[in-house]
Amino acid sequence: MKGIILAGGTGSRLMPLTKVTNKHLLPVYDKPMIYYPIKTLADGGIKDIMIVSGKGHAGHFLELLGDGEEFDARFSYAIQVEAGGIAQALGLCYDFADNEKVAVILGDNIFDYDISGAVKDFEQQERGAKIFLKEVDDPKRFGVAEISGDPPKGEAGKIIGIEEKPENPKSNYCVTGLYFFDKQVWDVIKTLKPSGRGELEITDVNNYYIKQGIMSFEILKGEWTDAGTFDSLLKASNLIAGK
Ligand code: G1P
Repeated sequence: MKGIILAGGTGSRLMPLTKVTNKHLLPVYDKPMIYYPIKTLADGGIKDIMIVSGKGHAGHFLELLGDGEEFDARFSYAIQVEAGGIAQALGLCYDFADNEKVAVILGDNIFDYDISGAVKDFEQQERGAKIFLKEVDDPKRFGVAEISGDPPKGEAGKIIGIEEKPENPKSNYCVTGLYFFDKQVWDVIKTLKPSGRGELEITDVNNYYIKQGIMSFEILKGEWTDAGTFDSLLKASNLIAGK
C-alpha cells in the first residue's frame, strides 16, 4: 500500500500565521505539523509516500523533508497548482499509486493511534475503502457520518452516509482525515463535480463507496485532532506536549 499526504490549501482559517508560510509547516509543540502524519504512515509500515503541497511553498517542503531517509521512508512530491479541494489533490497521485491501494492522510491531522493493524487488514480486503471515525463535541466543522446501531454499545453499525460540515449533524461521529482506498478511487474522482465551495470533496468520494456498500469503518481508540484552526492547533500542541 502506498501513502499520500495532502498538504495543499491556503490555510485561510489560520491567517495571519499562514500569510508567508504553509499551514503544514507551522509548529505543533516541538515539530512541524507535517511530521506527525508522516510518522503515522511510516509507523504503520507505509514507506512509499507522496507529499502534495501548494505551489507557493513546495521548495520549503523539499528542504525540510528531503528524500525521506530521516523517517525511514521514500518521499515523492507533487504540486497542486490551484486550491481545488482534497479530492482534486488526490487525483494528482494516480501515476504514483500505480494501481496499488492507497492510505491518504491530511497534513493537518494528528493521530495518537497505531494504524499498522488497520493497514494489514485493508491489504487483505478484496476491494472498497475504509474510514476512521472519532466522537467530537463540535461535529459541524467536519464531515459527519450517519451510522446505524450504536458502536460504543458493541453494536456493529453500518455507515449510511456522510455530510460535509452539516448545519444539523446526524451524529457526533466526525470523519477523520485518514482514508484507505482501492484503485477504483481514480475513476470516482473523475466523476466529481465541484461543491458549493468550489472544491472536489473527499466526502463525495466516500459517499460513492458507501452507496456501493463497500465502505468499512473503525471508531478510533486513540486521541485525534485536526490542527487547521487556532483552537485545534493549540489542542494539537497540548496533545503532543502531554504525551
Ligand atoms: C476536511 C474534510 C472533512 C474532515 C476533516 C478532518 O475538512 O473535508 O470531511 O472531517 O478534513 O480534518 P477541512 O479541514 O479541509 O475543512
